[in-house]
Amino acid sequence: MSERLLEVKGLKAGYDAVRILHGIDLHVNRGEFVTIIGPNGCGKSTFIKAIFGLATHHEGEVNHDGEIVSGWRTDRLVNRGISYVPQRDNVFPGLSVIENLEMGGLKLSAEVLEFRVEEAFRMFPDLISRTNDLAASLSGGERQMLAISRALISKPSFLLLDEPTAALSPLYQQQIIQRIDNLRSEGITILLVEQNARLALKRSDRAYIFAGGKVVHTSEASKVLDDPEIGEYFLGGEYNH
Ligand SMILES: Nc1ncnc2c1ncn2[C@@H]1O[C@H](COP(=O)(O)OP(=O)(O)OP(=O)(O)O)[C@@H](O)[C@H]1O
Ligand SMILES: [Mg+2]
Repeated sequence: MSERLLEVKGLKAGYDAVRILHGIDLHVNRGEFVTIIGPNGCGKSTFIKAIFGLATHHEGEVNHDGEIVSGWRTDRLVNRGISYVPQRDNVFPGLSVIENLEMGGLKLSAEVLEFRVEEAFRMFPDLISRTNDLAASLSGGERQMLAISRALISKPSFLLLDEPTAALSPLYQQQIIQRIDNLRSEGITILLVEQNARLALKRSDRAYIFAGGKVVHTSEASKVLDDPEIGEYFLGGEYNH
């Protein structure tokens, strides 16, 4: 079994003929927590979508767990143990918490689904008291917890998360990143896109910085935090200190 869970080589991708990503090289080792940062519109979400079968691959290769999966459909990728928490619209507001969780496991038997829901509640106990409440009534932080919980129902080994702390209070931001780190401790490999770079990088093993649809820097996360030039440009100003 190779150390690499995900290996992306020269990925050019976008939406139909529109190219957004111009040759991305990126890898994630088994058990790693890897964070992607970069300015608005640089293609972070498009990259995550491309890994999850939601963008158009033009050139290059995506290898997951020893097999080339470029262009595969999302349901096949889910069957391989990949799960995804989108940046936007990641819960069904008109459904209750439990119904949202059940939507994450439509193909599971009732028994397995019940077990998986219990597991999700174990990771996110804050949701237990909200079981029958509509997702629309949840706070922003609770919604993100629900979205992550739903992604766990398929029992992924590899979780893709797109800005799960966006628009949350600092307390919730910390809680969410802590929970994601807990998931990594449970053996789930993490690829995270994050605006709250400083918070995420403290917990990450490695980081990639995207700009203009390319990787402009990659190193250990601690080195990104310590590099004054990168720090000033990518972690200063609008970012949390
Ligand atoms: N469905 C789509 N069809 C065509 N272009 C799109 C589509 N979705 C996004 N884009 C374009 O792709 C580019 C990259 O967008 P993307 O959402 O990947 O950036 P991002 O780095 O995630 O930005 P943000 O930090 O704001 O979330 C943008 O120019 C955007 O307008
Ligand atoms: Mg995005």
